[in-house]
Amino acid sequence: MKPKLAFVEPLLVKIKKDNLYRKMQDVKNRGSYIYIKRKKLLNLCSNDYLGLSSIRNYSDQLQTSSRLVAGNDTSFDIIEKKLSRHKSQERSLVFPTGYMANLGAISTIVRENDVIFSDELNHASIIEACRLTRAKVLVYKHNDTSDLISKMKQESRRKFVATEGVFSMDGDIANLKQISEITEKTDSILVLDDAHGDFTLGADGKGTANHFKISKKIDLYISSLSKGLGSFGGYVASQNNVIELLINRSKPFIYTSALPSFLVRDAIQKFDSNREKQQKKLQRNTNLFRNGLKNIGYDISSVTHIIPIIIGKEKTALEFGKYLFRNGIFAQPIRYPTVGRNKARIRLSVTAWFEKNQIEKALDVFVTAGKKFQII
Ligand SMILES: Cc1ncc(COP(=O)(O)O)c(C=O)c1O
Repeated sequence: MKPKLAFVEPLLVKIKKDNLYRKMQDVKNRGSYIYIKRKKLLNLCSNDYLGLSSIRNYSDQLQTSSRLVAGNDTSFDIIEKKLSRHKSQERSLVFPTGYMANLGAISTIVRENDVIFSDELNHASIIEACRLTRAKVLVYKHNDTSDLISKMKQESRRKFVATEGVFSMDGDIANLKQISEITEKTDSILVLDDAHGDFTLGADGKGTANHFKISKKIDLYISSLSKGLGSFGGYVASQNNVIELLINRSKPFIYTSALPSFLVRDAIQKFDSNREKQQKKLQRNTNLFRNGLKNIGYDISSVTHIIPIIIGKEKTALEFGKYLFRNGIFAQPIRYPTVGRNKARIRLSVTAWFEKNQIEKALDVFVTAGKKFQII
């Protein structure tokens, strides 16, 4: 070990001591199941909510440069037109990932003298994006519009409000209608990261804003193609000149290689597939799972396909996860810094892959787990 890198080891020791150590597991995904060292587990960790993630073989050549340098594969125009209509916006732009879409959009549009109001439970990519802007960032209490209003009152700069649509670790939905009324009244710019509501909520999977019938009130949409759509990539949708500015100024768009065109074609194929049928199945499975957990005695407040079981202590959450694993269920304990300290949880994500009997079998395990860990 190099002495000059000696500071690294104590960092890892501390992470382990705090029960926050993470390691990757070698897995194979097969529909509703995941295989880990030949063990077959029901997969309750997937963001492939609609069960669309299987891929066809594509024979495209990989484009290994930026879209501005090596030319723009024609498939981008097709998916971007579809995504603009999907979000009722003038134009959209695909980024290599949703994370980069957040970094690229927010850091380009928000200027140094602006102020951003950011929900306290916003995703790490929004938080990092806010930092990149060098603007003033004021964090408001989760989904608390009174706190948002009172924080806004003290500010005279140009204002942005950034929120997720469906919160990724809590599964609750932003009070988007009220937030949009506030942004209208205060002439603020509303930025919505709808990674988990996109393709799963609203008519034709148009997302959280459509669910509230306020699609046009969103000034800047950011989303992922890697969750509900079961493909890969991220995108931004907004008015024409905003997208034009991103093409000209957004570093995570300009200075990186394009999303490979076979993935764009994959997204197009999935966009055009029978998503409605899968969305209905997701809804049915979510209701079965959520009601089942409530009937067993779990305290569930989520209203979406993301259902956290709040455990509290990191160590207990790890043990809970291991118990589920031994009993054929793959569900990750989520710990700090993804959620607050002592707010560890098992995050269950329901997908359209599941059949009724699989959900019933899983619920049986949650009965014994809940009793063992004295949660129910
Ligand atoms: C709310 C939110 N935004 C953005 C992202 C990033 O999306 P991607 O996985 O496409 O980078 C995620 C992914 O977990 C997310 O949960």
